Formats: sequence, structure tokens, C-alpha cells
Amino acid sequence: MAVFLAIESSCDETAVAILRQEAGGKAEILASEIASQIEQHREYGGVVPELASRSHSLCLNELVHKSLETAEIGISGIDVFGATMGPGLASSLLVGSTAAKAMSCVSGKPFVAVNHMEGHLLSPFINEAKIPPHIALIISGGHTLLMDVRGVGDYHRLGTTKDDAAGEAFDKVGKMLGLPYPGGPEIEKAAKNGNPKAFDFPRSMLHDGTHDFSFSGLKTAVLYTLQKNKSASVADVAASFQIAVIEVLVEKTIRAAKSTGRDLIALSGGVSLNKAVREAFQIRCEKEDICLTMAEGELCTDNAAMIGFAGLSRFLAGKTDSLDGDIDPNLTL
Ligand code: KG4
Ligand code: ZN
Repeated sequence: MAVFLAIESSCDETAVAILRQEAGGKAEILASEIASQIEQHREYGGVVPELASRSHSLCLNELVHKSLETAEIGISGIDVFGATMGPGLASSLLVGSTAAKAMSCVSGKPFVAVNHMEGHLLSPFINEAKIPPHIALIISGGHTLLMDVRGVGDYHRLGTTKDDAAGEAFDKVGKMLGLPYPGGPEIEKAAKNGNPKAFDFPRSMLHDGTHDFSFSGLKTAVLYTLQKNKSASVADVAASFQIAVIEVLVEKTIRAAKSTGRDLIALSGGVSLNKAVREAFQIRCEKEDICLTMAEGELCTDNAAMIGFAGLSRFLAGKTDSLDGDIDPNLTL
């Protein structure tokens, strides 16, 4: 049995979580606190790294105390500390990882370095005792990753984006449409009242025979449409853009499942919060007789519970990390 305190600070959410898990058992989230900085970055239309790291350092102490209080546990009840070491913004990663290392150092308890992408990858299984083989699609602000997961720690990358990540495309198109940052949830809202057939935007790399993605051509097509058609309805552009992203994501993921013979698909990352994305995957997976599991609610976007879950899977497998290890803004899976 281990009680894990996890810190996530890779971008613009500061998060602390406490989880308990027995080897072979299910993880229990005892506390999961998140302080979002979205409001602070909104006036700049995107994340300002220095503002992000300063804000992380200002709210971490309170979040740690709040988590301990919610979990009804003293700091001495924590068996292991962990933090996101990458990928992400260097100055942001340093704040959370240094705090976790400091607690580990002072308490003499072990430290576990966590890959943020492994956190997302495993997040749909947080209520499960086992991670079955599956195809994982991680769709976040910084990444679009299609992975063949054979088990915990045994990941094979099938495809990734050649340019913009799916969430990044949502955010950039949101900006073009004059919507507030982050564009993803705003585009979802606007698309509800729009016609997805109003504009025939490109479905890039759909038939290229790879498992890779590209969203920059789509983004440029939206830009040209807006320049040519000044009175284009925001709702129609949002709906047409969203369906173009969804069709590519669904088609490529289904193909990956078929080509590997996997009968389970798992979705994670901020874009998987989008209801239209979820519904499209549900409908198609049902049709193809493929099981589907998706990260739930706050576990889709950045949070520390997923970092604790990934950290626990490493720790319970006997792995710990040195306090001398560095962060890696470009860490890959
Ligand atoms: O996973 P996440 O919180 O952070 C990263 O690791 O990047 O993902 C954030 C991304 C942003 O690009 C945001 O616009 C997008 O997820 N997102 C959405 C929705 N909610 C968040 N995209 C589309 N629809 C949404 N409802
Ligand atoms: Zn993330």
C-alpha cells in the first residue's frame, strides 16, 4: 500500500493530488485540487510562461495544505512524492518538481518523476485495477499522440502530429474567430448553433496511409475562408472546423485499432472533454464493435490525480527516481 502526493505544474494549471493504492488494487483519489490560471492568461490570448511559473509558486503551498486536509492525512502519512518532469514549460515544471523534491528530501521519503503524457495516457483507467492492451489517443493542447499500449510502461508510438496539436488548432481557430482563450471549449459552444456542412474544410492526411496527423492546413483554410468571407457565421465556421478535426481523429484512431487488432480505444487530454468528439467516437466504436473508454470530466484536462496515478504505477512496480534528475520540457513517451 502506498499514499502518493503528486504535483502537476507543466503549463497553466497548478494541481496537487493525494492517492492511495495497494499493489494489484484500485487507486483511490483522496484529494485532487486544481488552481486554474486561465483568467490570468486570457487577456494575453495565450499562456505567458513567466506569469505561469510565478502563479504556480504562489498557490502551491495552499494547494498542498488543502489536499492534506481533504485527504485527512498529515504530511508524515505520505509515503512517496512525485511531480511532472515534462513535457511542458521549463519554468513551470521547475516550480512543481522542486516543491515535490523538497518535501521528499525533508521527509526522507522517495521521489517519483512522472511524464505528463503518461499521466494523460493512463487517466481513462484511474478507476481500474489493470490497464488492458489498447489504442490510446491523447488529444491535448500540446500533443496529438496515437499509441499502441501493451501494458503499463510498454508503449509504442504509432503516430503524432506533424505540426499543430489538436487542442492548439482549436485555440488558434478560436483566436481567429475572436473567441476568448482557450478556444477549445468556446468553439464547442459556438459549434452547437452552427452548420457543420457550411464549409468543406480539408481532412488532412486522412488517406496517406500513416497514423500521423496534420492540422495546420485546416487552420490556414479557416483563415482564408474568414478573409474571403467577412460575414461568415462564427457558429458555422466553428461547426465546420470541429467536424473536420473530429472526422480525422476518429478515422485514424479506428484504423490504428484495426491495423493492430486492438479491440479497445482510450481517449484522453483536454480535447477529449469535447462532447461532439466523445459522441463521434461512441457512435463509430459501437458500429465497429470496438470498446471505448474515456477520461472523465476534470481528468481530461491537466490535473494531478492522473500524475499520481501514473506515479503510483511506477512506484508500485518498484521504481523511484533521483532528486538530482532534471526536468525535460521536450520529454516524449
Ligand atoms: O490536456 P490539457 O488540459 O493540457 C495540455 O496538456 O495541453 O489540454 C488543453 C487543451 C486546450 O487546447 C483546450 O482548448 C483544449 O484542451 N480543450 C478543448 C475543450 N476543452 C479543453 N478542446 C475542444 N473542446 C473542449 N471542450
Ligand atoms: Zn496535459
